[in-house]
Amino acid sequence: MAFDTQAWLAEARALIGSAHVLSADRGDDLSAYTRDWRGKFQEPALAVLRPADTGEVQALMRLAARSGVAVIPQGGNTGMCAASVPVPGGRPQAILQLGRMDRIFEIDPENNTATVQAGCILQTLRERAAAAGRLFPLSLGAEGSCQIGGNIATNAGGVQVLRYGNMRDLVLGLEVVLPDGERLDLLRGLRKDNTGYDLKQFFIGAEGTLGVITAATVKLFPAPSAGSVAFAGLDSIGQAVRLLGAMRARMGERFAAFELISGDAVDLVRRYFPDTPALLERRWPWHVLMEAADGGGDEALREAMQAALMACLEEGCVEDVVLAGNLGQGRTLWSLRENITHAQQMDGGNIKHDISLPISRIPAFVERMLPQLRQSFPGARPIVYGHLGDGNLHFNVSAPAGVAPAAWQERTGAVNRLVHDAVAAMRGSISAEHGVGQLKRHEMASYKTAAELDVMRRIKRALDPQGLMNPGKVL
Ligand code: FAD
Ligand code: MLT
Ligand code: ZN
Repeated sequence: MAFDTQAWLAEARALIGSAHVLSADRGDDLSAYTRDWRGKFQEPALAVLRPADTGEVQALMRLAARSGVAVIPQGGNTGMCAASVPVPGGRPQAILQLGRMDRIFEIDPENNTATVQAGCILQTLRERAAAAGRLFPLSLGAEGSCQIGGNIATNAGGVQVLRYGNMRDLVLGLEVVLPDGERLDLLRGLRKDNTGYDLKQFFIGAEGTLGVITAATVKLFPAPSAGSVAFAGLDSIGQAVRLLGAMRARMGERFAAFELISGDAVDLVRRYFPDTPALLERRWPWHVLMEAADGGGDEALREAMQAALMACLEEGCVEDVVLAGNLGQGRTLWSLRENITHAQQMDGGNIKHDISLPISRIPAFVERMLPQLRQSFPGARPIVYGHLGDGNLHFNVSAPAGVAPAAWQERTGAVNRLVHDAVAAMRGSISAEHGVGQLKRHEMASYKTAAELDVMRRIKRALDPQGLMNPGKVL
């Protein structure tokens, strides 16, 4: 029987209210939901569904299961691998946008937990936790628009993983609606629970392919009262790895962030954000942005950072360094780091990589890759930056001058093969934090073992036998 779009939309509208079912046929503009953040993928959707609570998500999932409609969970749509937007062809696809489910149910300062709906914006949770004297440590450039559900579904990383771990390390409990509409209540704030399989782990990092996350209980930490930020110039990545070891040894648990920024990345930011100050007296091939935080006073922490950095200068594991004198200067240093993503987007064609390796192997990887890239793709401009403290680099490759973005995108397969084969040869990962989505799906067969893929497919079939959840992503 042919699919009856109007009847389906009418049923969905009866379930959650007409205003909350957007569709192109009645003139709603769906483009903000159907196009990915990087503007590289756009396909039509049957509808954008905006439920108000878990009960409405259940009702919509039952309707989808009955009618064979695919469901794409969507948070802030800031993901980097086009996992939250429709794919070409296949069955009708509805986007399930969680933005209306943005309540913070509870901040429990004694248990150090927050329980929130999936559509809560990350920045909102960070601000509410701070008002209660607590820190929710996940922090990333998109925090003003990405949602907790999206952060969990992508197992997001960000700039504090060094100290607090990925999103997976921050989740204690989940509520999930399964593809058949059943509600799985795993919403517990326990730090210890060994009663069988840890089911929540299936949904963390699953990119919406196994169920809809509707709520979560996450860990909070005492809010630090002091922070200190430094920016250093270095000759090589090997020196940066030595600096990491030396600073961790001196600063211990206080050391929270260690971000690598190449000289070319700094130049790119200064081209598109001309107000960015020259932070060091001369241009270095590599830089590191570091942050430490603790529960004491700013002055004492700053002195400890200064002493540690001076010792590193004497030992030769850093060449030049500037220490922020106050919060405002610290923010300026961070905005340079955060603007790299935006500068690359403004610059046009770039092929993004999101790789991880054991930290000890990163210098050899970069030193081998840079000349190989330049030789294989003359004029290509590597823009390297990222979370060196976690062994995770954004080894991006911008188009040679004069090459149109579309022409450069056509080289994606060849550039990826060069970079990803080298990563795989060193037993690294081709996606450390952004995920697979539709962007890297076709590469899974080359970089995962047959046994890994088989187990993934068996889990997928067990939880989603109809293949309704986010088809065409990951597997
Ligand atoms: P979306 O993009 O909407 O969705 C992402 C995936 O999660 C999709 O597969 C979607 O189907 C699924 N999903 C969303 N909500 C749910 C739900 N409730 N239930 C089930 N599945 C769901 N990422 C990092 O890891 N580290 C960074 O440092 C970082 N920095 C960034 C900086 C910028 C400027 C930008 C634009 C992005 C950055 N990202 C980073 C990528 C992105 O912000 C993260 O992946 C984020 O976690 C995605 O959240 P979202 O709400 O936007 O999810
Ligand atoms: C980052 O580290 O800034 C993010 O992962 C986004 C990006 O890859 O640019
Ligand atoms: Zn990143």
